[in-house]
Amino acid sequence: MKAVITGGAGFIGSALGRHLLEQGVEQVVAFDNLNSGHKKNLDGTGIALVEGDIRDYDAVLRAFAGADFVFHLAAIPSVPRSIKEPLPSHDVNINGSFNVFRAAQHAGVKRVVYAASSSAYGDTEVLPKVETMQTNPKSPYAAQKLMGEQYASVFSSCFGLETVSLRFFNVFGPRQDPGSAYSGVLSLFMKALIEGTSPTIFGDGEQSRDFTFVEDVAALVWKAAHAKDVSGRVFNAGNGNRYTLNETWKLLQGIAGRELTANYGPPRAGDVKHSQADTALAVQYLGHAPQFTFEEGLRRTFQWYKASLA
Ligand code: UD1
Repeated sequence: MKAVITGGAGFIGSALGRHLLEQGVEQVVAFDNLNSGHKKNLDGTGIALVEGDIRDYDAVLRAFAGADFVFHLAAIPSVPRSIKEPLPSHDVNINGSFNVFRAAQHAGVKRVVYAASSSAYGDTEVLPKVETMQTNPKSPYAAQKLMGEQYASVFSSCFGLETVSLRFFNVFGPRQDPGSAYSGVLSLFMKALIEGTSPTIFGDGEQSRDFTFVEDVAALVWKAAHAKDVSGRVFNAGNGNRYTLNETWKLLQGIAGRELTANYGPPRAGDVKHSQADTALAVQYLGHAPQFTFEEGLRRTFQWYKASLA
């Protein structure tokens, strides 16, 4: 069996690659342009790296030859980056995704699992967020990710390609790169704690997220590759909980055994206030069963940063 992970050298992609190998997939290929992914994430794993860009259709088609499954995770992430530089994220997240679906169809891939985003919901009065809700993207990134899942669905209905979209809810875990201002907030919190610096919290810190541990996401993605009667559908991939940034920062200080005062800055443009997944549909159709509490995920992640950054 062969699986190709676009964005496979990223922190989620490389965790997924490890999971697939553990599940007995013989050949796992990471197709990645190393824009935000890293070769070192694949060290010692047995995952093969094919360097390439999803905007290059021929390269994508070559990489997909003989693949049973494609996991489409490659993207330019970040809500604020998509506001500052909308063109590159549009090009990669929309045109690149179109290439991925088209190449998967032409290569005869059995199923594509697409990494959609919880940002598609925007701000809603009602929590948790259910798949049947009206979407309301508040940033180019959110709109692009929503377009990607709509394309996934259309490739299923018009071209017979099996697709499943999973709306990831703020994934965190080992190997998330804290190296940019656009990095995920938990990677920045971890780095601050290890370096003894103060993180910046945008707004009052009372915004909340359904932070989802990367290993739970990897397990769910693999389940989505096999589930029955799901082609063209969209599922939440979250934990079903939510924590404010203030709560999270406090929890992390406890785990690290270190107290540091956070700086508070103005709220960030395009930010969603609260995010929390309704997991019922994913449980029903995909057998979603998260294994890690938020605190356990934080502990494991902190241990990893401590070992690799200190
Ligand atoms: C959004 C999506 C998420 C997606 C991610 C990709 C939502 C609800 N979630 O994450 O599914 O995977 O984009 O990039 O839309 N923050 C700080 N200080 C910092 C950095 C961030 O306070 O230094 C705050 C942000 O303002 C935000 C929260 O932390 O309120 C989370 O930010 P971030 O980690 O960037 O992710 P989202 O934008 O929520």
